[in-house]
Amino acid sequence: MEDNLQKFLEELRSRIAVSDIVSEKVKLTKRGREYMGLCPFHNEKTPSFTVNDAKGFYHCFGCGAHGDIVGFEMNANGLPFMDAIEKLAHKAGLPMPKFSKENSLENQKRQSLFEIMDLAASYYEKMLKLPEGQKGLEYFYHRGLTDDLIQKFRLGFAPQNNGLKAYLKSKGVSELDMSELGLIVTSQESGTTHDFFKNRVMIPIFDRQNHVIAFGGRIMGDGQPKYLNSPETNLFNKRKMLYNYNFARDAGYEKKRLIVCEGYMDVIALDKFGFPYAVAPMGTALTEDQIIKAWQVVPEPVLCFDGDAAGIKAAVRSIDRALPLLKPGYSLQFMFLPDKMDPDEFLRAKGADEFEKLFSQTMPLIDLVWQKNTRTHLADTPERKALIEKNIKEEILKIENKEVRAYYVTEMKKRLFETYGQGSFQKKQSNTSYKRPHQITSPLKDVDLRFILAALLLFPQLAEEMEEKLMMFDLSKFKGSMILMRLFELSHDEHDSAKIYQTLCAEGFEKDLNELWELQMIRSQQTDEFQIKKQINELLTGVQINELKRDIREAALKIEKPNASASDLEQYLTLIEELNALIAEMNN
Ligand code: UTP
Ligand code: MN
Repeated sequence: MEDNLQKFLEELRSRIAVSDIVSEKVKLTKRGREYMGLCPFHNEKTPSFTVNDAKGFYHCFGCGAHGDIVGFEMNANGLPFMDAIEKLAHKAGLPMPKFSKENSLENQKRQSLFEIMDLAASYYEKMLKLPEGQKGLEYFYHRGLTDDLIQKFRLGFAPQNNGLKAYLKSKGVSELDMSELGLIVTSQESGTTHDFFKNRVMIPIFDRQNHVIAFGGRIMGDGQPKYLNSPETNLFNKRKMLYNYNFARDAGYEKKRLIVCEGYMDVIALDKFGFPYAVAPMGTALTEDQIIKAWQVVPEPVLCFDGDAAGIKAAVRSIDRALPLLKPGYSLQFMFLPDKMDPDEFLRAKGADEFEKLFSQTMPLIDLVWQKNTRTHLADTPERKALIEKNIKEEILKIENKEVRAYYVTEMKKRLFETYGQGSFQKKQSNTSYKRPHQITSPLKDVDLRFILAALLLFPQLAEEMEEKLMMFDLSKFKGSMILMRLFELSHDEHDSAKIYQTLCAEGFEKDLNELWELQMIRSQQTDEFQIKKQINELLTGVQINELKRDIREAALKIEKPNASASDLEQYLTLIEELNALIAEMNN
């Protein structure tokens, strides 16, 4: 009984998104891959309540409230456990099972979708070992697979007749469920239903809990389509799944490696040759969700491509996906196989050691970005060099994370300079304004921060420049830091103060903005952009100068001591130099 309940809960969670339930009660705004809103469990003015559909839970950073769809119904709507489940079952269009002993027979009739998929997988597995499946088994052997691999990956065979439909029927599965799971289809002409997979070798796709959620079926020999995949169902979202994630996650986590290759057979071959930490998307280019999943295993998964034009094109496509997602420590590595070979062919031809060799010489993402923009472009005239610089700049701007972007900018400037000589990129760097290289520890006063927030709201065009400077300060204690961060984000594409104001109001910041009387003050004084910029700069530089002076005093004490070293002296001189640069910049 317990077991049935667990299965039913899993079924509900797979059918209903948390945001669907929460949004009945809370106004949610999408922020990246999550939703945010005002927490229904405690009083708050700025949203700290998040909903993550992929992970299946809500979480409040303010009060710590946390739970899934059932928890939300119980805690936010006050329903008892069983009533919560009943309401959710109704929403999912599922009959409410009776979780009691007398009705256990009836319970068993209503199988979960997972159970049906499992039945289907077992059926295909069984077929592979019967005379009907002989040619399937031979196909797998011919491709070098062993019985162990066939068992581990639960490989199977779908016969030509409608065997699966008949088998599932005998197990009491309804045709509706079969067709919802993409196991049978209705023929256009006759209107009758028949098996979706026919005369193919079958590769089940598992979710991370090892449930079968879909299949890929390969034709034996030539023909189209080479692989037939299950359609999207309640269980299977192709763009979110990685084939073999269930096994590769543990193996990869342990070995600190993850290989992302292109096909099912590559994954299986890699396992055979001692690389059990490979995954593959299913016929599509790598999606954002898949990159994020890969990062949950290792910070730098290795994308493995055929070294032909198509492989390089696919690699380049993954750059666009990855750049906006990069964050400190997290990236992608690339490896290209020679002679148009895929991993399966390469391993069979050259063996595991050769693969390992290539694996130890992967190319970091920044190199691929560089290659993409320089390799295929002539750089023989100033105009063409400038174009390359422009393209690289545009590409790097796709990186949303500030720290990572900053290092890409620095590195690309260096490469452009070394390769093409002095362009604007480099020039800008050579007389770049002084920046304190480390975090500033002195706090900014709350009144000053309020003034800056108000000023940037009125002059969002200044936000980007100020963002860089402000990020050197610790803003975590400032009450308005959420609005400020949001303002920075919005000002990347919007410089209309009124529009930004409206957006922030719509996101739940209206009350805070009304309390920000500095807005009216700046407005009423008719301060202009130039003055505002100067005032903010003075504020920030003032704090920086004070902090530097303090550091200089400390450094001076050090060099007066008898055991002072050369590096103490050097540090003292550097600080003095920094101070001079700051003062010069302020007077500019
Ligand atoms: P490939 O055509 O590169 O095939 O497709 P492969 O992996 O080398 O397959 P084998 O070795 O010939 O058996 C790569 C992946 O693209 C998807 C599959 O996921 C496949 O593994 N694909 C390919 C499809 O979904 N449908 C197709 O018709 C072909
Ligand atoms: Mn292949």
